[in-house]
Amino acid sequence: MVDFRPVDWTVLITAARDAREHAYAPYSHFRVGAAALMEDGSISTGANVENRTYGLTLCAERVALATAVARGAGRARAIAVMTDTSPPATPCGLCLQTMAEFAGQDLPVLLVNLEGEQIEHKLSELLPHPFELPKP
Ligand code: THU
Repeated sequence: MVDFRPVDWTVLITAARDAREHAYAPYSHFRVGAAALMEDGSISTGANVENRTYGLTLCAERVALATAVARGAGRARAIAVMTDTSPPATPCGLCLQTMAEFAGQDLPVLLVNLEGEQIEHKLSELLPHPFELPKP
């Protein structure tokens, strides 16, 4: 079912910017914030949470999506990702595959930075061929 409700990007951008403040990034010093608008109308935020093992690091986008799914918020309708690079950073492959799990390929992904630069993609442009399990 197509959802025609408009996305309030201003709210999502502010939420992603605020979430980024809580990034735990003592190793990379690269802070990321994400805000996902969910099917139930709620906004779920996340920040990257690093670990001294490096490999256990959680990306901001996956924190935002997992938090939403774990409280039953449904699928994602839009996501904004805040960094302070120019151009704004593109989500990693793990995060794109996670988006594919919880949203359609037409998910709008807005990449933003603190300066206000914005680049909007559909998930299908960033991850044209997500992994799919073979049909049983
Ligand atoms: N990071 C994210 O939060 N999202 C991404 O899509 C890519 C990378 C984080 C992980 C790590 O804490 C830091 O950025 C540098 O890789």
